[in-house]
Amino acid sequence: MNKTDNSELNKAQFGDNFKWGVSTAAFQIEGAHDADGKGLSIWDVFTSQKGKVKGGHHAMTACDFYSSYKNDILLLGELNIPNFRFSLSWSRILPNGTSPVNQAGIDYYNQVIDFLLECGIEPWITLYHWDLPHELELKGGWTNRDSIAWFENYTEICAQNFGDRVKNWMIINEPSVFTGAGYFLGIHAPGKRGLSNYLKAVHHVTLATTAGAKVLRNIVPDANIGTTFSCTHIEPASTKKRDVAAAKRVDTLLNRTFIEPILGLGYPQADLPVLKKLNRYILPEDEKNMAFDFDFIGLQCYTREIVRASIFTPYVGAALVTAEKRNVPFTEMKWEVYPPSIYHLLKKFDTYKGIKKIIITENGAAFPDTVSNGEVKDNERTKYIQDHLQQLLKAKKEGVKVEGYFVWSLTDNFEWAEGYHTRFGLIYVDFDTQQRIIKQSGQWFRKFLSNHI
Ligand code: BGC
Repeated sequence: MNKTDNSELNKAQFGDNFKWGVSTAAFQIEGAHDADGKGLSIWDVFTSQKGKVKGGHHAMTACDFYSSYKNDILLLGELNIPNFRFSLSWSRILPNGTSPVNQAGIDYYNQVIDFLLECGIEPWITLYHWDLPHELELKGGWTNRDSIAWFENYTEICAQNFGDRVKNWMIINEPSVFTGAGYFLGIHAPGKRGLSNYLKAVHHVTLATTAGAKVLRNIVPDANIGTTFSCTHIEPASTKKRDVAAAKRVDTLLNRTFIEPILGLGYPQADLPVLKKLNRYILPEDEKNMAFDFDFIGLQCYTREIVRASIFTPYVGAALVTAEKRNVPFTEMKWEVYPPSIYHLLKKFDTYKGIKKIIITENGAAFPDTVSNGEVKDNERTKYIQDHLQQLLKAKKEGVKVEGYFVWSLTDNFEWAEGYHTRFGLIYVDFDTQQRIIKQSGQWFRKFLSNHI
């Protein structure tokens, strides 16, 4: 991508109805882990255990969004960002997961929603962004089939309390990441491992996604309902048959396992045989309950992976050839910077007939930002966003139904197992003083959104 291309990039090219925004998540920004009656979440517990998060970082304060939400919402306004995606903390609303309701939690989100609306910013709620109430984890968490009913109950309370003003909803954030990292590999909360934990979680999360969506549809009939999936463009390391087959299995695992059942296509068991082991958890009525007619699908795309066959990895028989090894540019997360990835993924998901509309609900990058003379010159991030927008535009011009783009994230925040080591924000946060500095990428985004480019 050359410079001239990006200098020609402007908001008008995307059309008047295109949704521009930023995304965040409760656990990563709020802090106030035990304020005003909040219960513990699995991430509160996980971060308190030794060796789980880099540098022993925790999120008891994080970005202090709980207290300073007004300040950050004013910054959103300053950046001209019209849509704000944030998640609700289940254990702030239901400290024990099921009942009683913590009125202070409801009041808090009402204040956030009302202030957003007062500032002319549209709220986009994610119901679940990985912070399950700890009390529910003690009962097995997502491995327990009751999790579907727990989630329906939580959704009902959120829909009843916020549905009069909030019209854009996402049910679950990136199921493949939190089931894989949290229930198979044990590197995210709740730190469970093994195939049976993973498969049970996969199936219950799938059913909870559509069950939650149905509850929301009944209570807020005019809601714009979506759910989000992490997706990664996959390519084989060579044209050898075994590498091509390995790439297909990884693509199935990462990109197809969750979306296909909700589109009524069932689990893609033919292309990833280990998913046949899900059958022992599938009840006769599940097949029809797994599907829902979503208004939009949120795709969250950061990178691509190159895959080769490997007999050492159980179940998928594949290994990733890292960006470092391939000697290509990568971010602080060690993820390759490969903008065409978003184009390929948009084209791929657009081929599913059941998807009415796609919104990129996350895209962004971590780079080693430094403050110098009160400024953060994060040119790499600006270029990353611009290059991805060019690729999105290319797909849109070819007819892909992509109707929105949300940057991850508004501010630097708590990046799960990486703690505060990796910064994704358009706004820099000094975590000792909570001071904010709008980075150059944020300044660029502001100009872009104001049609000044
Ligand atoms: C998640 C975010 C996360 C981001 C960067 C997504 O997987 O939804 O919570 O911070 O990517 O890793």
